[in-house]
Amino acid sequence: MAQDRNLLTVILVCCLTVVSIVALVLGIISLNQSGGETGSDGQPINIFTQSGQSSSSGSSLASSSSSDDKVWLFAIGHYDDILEYLDETTYTIKGFGPDIVDAVCSIANKNCQLVYDVYEHCWDNQAGERPRGGPGLMGGWYDGCTGWVQTLDRLLTYYFTVPYTNGRAVALFAKNDSTVTYNDLTNLTVGFLDGWNSDEFCLARYKNIVGSTLSANQIFHYQSADLMIDAVLNGVIDVAFGELLSQFTSSLKLISPPDFDNNCQAGGASIMTRHTNRDLVNWWNDAFQRLRDRGRYNEICEAIPERHGHIAGQDYTEICLGY
Ligand SMILES: *[C@@H]1O[C@H](CO)[C@@H](O)[C@H](O)[C@H]1NC(C)=O
Ligand SMILES: *[C@@H]1O[C@H](CO)[C@@H](O)[C@H](O)[C@H]1NC(C)=O
Repeated sequence: MAQDRNLLTVILVCCLTVVSIVALVLGIISLNQSGGETGSDGQPINIFTQSGQSSSSGSSLASSSSSDDKVWLFAIGHYDDILEYLDETTYTIKGFGPDIVDAVCSIANKNCQLVYDVYEHCWDNQAGERPRGGPGLMGGWYDGCTGWVQTLDRLLTYYFTVPYTNGRAVALFAKNDSTVTYNDLTNLTVGFLDGWNSDEFCLARYKNIVGSTLSANQIFHYQSADLMIDAVLNGVIDVAFGELLSQFTSSLKLISPPDFDNNCQAGGASIMTRHTNRDLVNWWNDAFQRLRDRGRYNEICEAIPERHGHIAGQDYTEICLGY
């Protein structure tokens, strides 16, 4: 019996030894694998480490040197403007907007990533319907949408960082030979650019314009500035309402005065986010203030012609704050 018990103990010890060796080997293998994942592709998540311009976060390997592990996702589109466009050679979204996201995230030491999506997933604005939040931002597909001007309607739904551009003026336009005046739109037909903040709800806020609250049969929406200009020139609509784009001023008559109020925008281009993302707005605003204090903001603005000058857009003195 005693011998049996000894034999049993020896077998048990052997089994335990085998099990622990296997566990040790498995442990070492899994450690090596997870180490390999972060190191193997050599692409840090922090997008700013690739530009060679950032200093402090230059060596960050994803989470290691950042203040937290989170990757902040920012939706961006491209509309062939100096603010955001698709660069065909690198096949990335470039422009003043991405430059600002890079710089602010770098100062804040946050891992940020641009995510391409259609604009409608950030903000949905269909003719004849109330403008409203889009499923991408409302549904948390990303943390924020870049470059959205603040409007009263958007403020009903979303929360914003401080603006990083000036707002753009809005104006009313008519055909060169038109006798229509801006302060009476009674029974006139008016065109709007679909999805833009200069919409019929904004026009209705102009109490100094008679008939500014239009009925449905006076409202026409267009997908592009060129289509709206054609409609004015062909007499389909009497008046066009929109941002002061160069296409409008070069082909139509400006009928609103030079000091026409902008009742559409509550602030320039900002990061638009959900009300629950106070944390994002706090660190962004703090880092953006430091960007301005250090003069880096002005450097980015003044580099626009060199970096993005081959793309159409406003002058940096119009885009940027403080010029
Ligand atoms: C506007 O149209 C309505 C209905 O067609 C008409 O009764 C009214 O006189 C028009 N007002 C002006 C100022 O033309
Ligand atoms: C309207 O007038 C402006 C300024 O005089 C001119 O540049 C433009 O070509 C004119 N548009 C048309 C369609 O004739």
